[in-house]
Amino acid sequence: MRGQKGRKNAKGPTDRSAMLMLETPKEMQAVSETWRGSGQEIGFVPTMGALHEGHLSLFRRAQEESDRVVASIFVNPTQFGANEDFDTYPRRLRRDRERLEEVGCDALFVPSVEAMYGTSSPNVDSGERPHVEVGRIGHLWEGLERPGHFRGVATVVAMLFHAVLPHRAYFGEKDYQQLKVIQNMARSLLFGIEIVGCPTVRESDGLAMSSRNAYLSEEEREAAIKLYQALNAAAELARKGARDASVLARKMHDICDTEPLVELQYAAVVEAETLTPLECVDEHPARAIVAAHVGTTHLVDNIELPSP
Ligand code: PAJ
Repeated sequence: MRGQKGRKNAKGPTDRSAMLMLETPKEMQAVSETWRGSGQEIGFVPTMGALHEGHLSLFRRAQEESDRVVASIFVNPTQFGANEDFDTYPRRLRRDRERLEEVGCDALFVPSVEAMYGTSSPNVDSGERPHVEVGRIGHLWEGLERPGHFRGVATVVAMLFHAVLPHRAYFGEKDYQQLKVIQNMARSLLFGIEIVGCPTVRESDGLAMSSRNAYLSEEEREAAIKLYQALNAAAELARKGARDASVLARKMHDICDTEPLVELQYAAVVEAETLTPLECVDEHPARAIVAAHVGTTHLVDNIELPSP
């Protein structure tokens, strides 16, 4: 059952003193158990930090629906491939902490890699460590581009859930496949946690907000807008009655191909729950998804397609 709207113990947004900082799963669990023991419901927003309005929108939704809100900041090594940006991923803890205090976060969970995994170089791919196997949905699209990525994501999210013990957790539709992987995990493995999907927050020109946008040069930032333009064009075609998925995909490719700085990895029309490719857009919920390298930066985006 959903918690009562409006928080029973809401602090004012200007109460900046009371945010708890927890650095180990044990400390976090103790706080959450106290709250749960007094009947308070916990909303949870897991992040890797470098917070922007997209993250904060999840946080605000959590605040509306729960008595207590916990955010986590943890740059999770096991979801980055060997040649990816784990070392350079933006880390802005002081600024993030201030923002969370300003918006009235109750607790911030900021574990070290050692505190989470018991080692500074964890590996969930070797098969030695227990991990979450995400099933088919995790081996499509981003799962093909980034082998092992969703295994790392699902494993750390399961661990974060066990530390934070939330009633519900908030994820952005911006990372649509991630949202579906986590919903699937929580449902299939009976986590008893409601996974809430929240709409993508965009810059004024439509680019989806992302911590990785900080990597883009001025030229690349201009070029990156093609992703949203391509998605929008596909949605527009569907709105006008186009049903053939290959026509929508072609349109997205054509738009991205006009920009040499955008190296498209995939642009596809998929079934909204399973992410399997569709041949035609019918009454089933459908989504257009794209991923590209813009310079060396990996960006993903997606849009809901209108049904006939
Ligand atoms: P991160 O990229 O920091 O994103 C944290 C959450 O914010 C995710 O649920 C993501 O989908 C959401 N988010 C990011 N940009 C958004 C936007 N523009 N609009 C709405 N929501 C947005 O995703 C991760 O971290 C990690 O994989 C994590 C789930 C924390 C596991 O390590």
